[in-house]
Amino acid sequence: MENKVKLKGKAQMTVNGRTAEFPVYSGTLGPDVVDIGTLYKQADVFTLDPGFTSTGSCESQITFIDGDEGVLLHRGYPIDQLAEKSSFLEVCYLLLHGELPNESQAKTFNTTITRHTMLHAQFDRFFEGFRRDAHPMAVMVGAVGALSAFYHDSTDINDPVQRLVASHRMIAKMPTIAARAYKYTSGQPFVSPRNELDYASNFLRMCFSVPAEDYAVNPVLARAMDRIFILHADHEQNASTSTVRLAGSSGANPFACIAAGIACLWGPSHGGANEAALKMLSEIGTVDRVHEYVKKAKDKNDPFRLMGFGHRVYKNYDPRAKVMQKTCHEVLKEVGAESDPLLPVAMELERIALSDEYFIEKKLYPNIDFYSGITLKAMGFPTDMFTVLFALARTVGWIAQWQEMIEDPTQRIGRPRQIYTGAPRRDYVPMSQRG
Ligand code: CMC
Repeated sequence: MENKVKLKGKAQMTVNGRTAEFPVYSGTLGPDVVDIGTLYKQADVFTLDPGFTSTGSCESQITFIDGDEGVLLHRGYPIDQLAEKSSFLEVCYLLLHGELPNESQAKTFNTTITRHTMLHAQFDRFFEGFRRDAHPMAVMVGAVGALSAFYHDSTDINDPVQRLVASHRMIAKMPTIAARAYKYTSGQPFVSPRNELDYASNFLRMCFSVPAEDYAVNPVLARAMDRIFILHADHEQNASTSTVRLAGSSGANPFACIAAGIACLWGPSHGGANEAALKMLSEIGTVDRVHEYVKKAKDKNDPFRLMGFGHRVYKNYDPRAKVMQKTCHEVLKEVGAESDPLLPVAMELERIALSDEYFIEKKLYPNIDFYSGITLKAMGFPTDMFTVLFALARTVGWIAQWQEMIEDPTQRIGRPRQIYTGAPRRDYVPMSQRG
């Protein structure tokens, strides 16, 4: 990656009587940054920023977010335009290569991905090691980590060709692995990929087709699936992407790095929120109980939070949630799930949260997970598959960010510091003398 930051000026900081000077850089969009990389050398102090709310970790040219304005751009293109006009594989190409593909590039890319969808036959036996009631995300962490044991010829991170092959393999095989994780827990036979189907249709077929009857892909659901993949494809330096970059900074192979990202995504504050949102709707159960839960969410002494509301970065609205809301209604209409008893609960929760002073003041809007949970349920996915679908879609973002990191000449192993507040130095006390 060619570094493109522009020097804008200088910043000074005086600590403990020592003044340190730092360059201030501008990117293409977004706030300027102060490069404090030499702070320790100049002033003998570290910065402390738990949760990294004011800390950038890298230079990137892939995704831009303006949380205050509700903007999300991939390589400069707004997410709503991509969701409306593009396809997931085109977005994958864009994220990986920086530009939208022309006709022949798109054809070659689609063929390449299609040709990598199958898994090594021995890999299927690997699934059998898991208990049938394992959470599919547990299976994903293990199975994706195991790819490095099957595809040795794409683990040399210093070879650009191997890096690209690993990227293609990951994007292509993730739907096959995700569908197998689902089939395994439901006790149904695995369904092989079909090369004549598009990416989303192929995935739906691998999940829902059974040998006993023909399966016709519903085009409305396939389009919705593709859109859900686009909306989750990348999201700048979030927790799981930062995990992938941090794991990769040590030189770990790409399959191991993506497995680390999947593990991080699993948490309910991140990718697990759509599953948590649906569980919460089921727990609320009926519209008359919504107020009780809103009260709980506002109570400072109650740790309960409304799942599917709020976002670390979007403090105005989540631009993905807007598209997802529309897709949600299209799917509900198509499958006739508008009679789902959870839907009125969801709509009442949305109405109250959008008009309640607490939520308005704290800028807690419904996020993408609120709508994607309802949509995926209507499409027939069980709740524990929701985060798996997020992982499938986010794989391209992780791999594009990993590639960018490896190609960055300024890249070093990630190694944060700390403020130590534990015991000062003390001498070992033999057990007989301890109180
Ligand atoms: N329900 C009730 N109160 C909330 C919620 C919520 N969902 N989210 C934040 N708050 C309150 C919080 O109690 C705090 O109040 P106070 O200032 O009085 O202490 C204030 O809002 C700020 O919260 P925060 O924890 O400092 O915000 P954060 O930026 O660290 O957390 C979040 C962001 C997404 C983790 C959080 O909003 C949350 O836990 N939401 C529910 C889980 C969820 O839906 N996560 C999916 C995020 S989108 C998908 C993704 O990118 O992975």
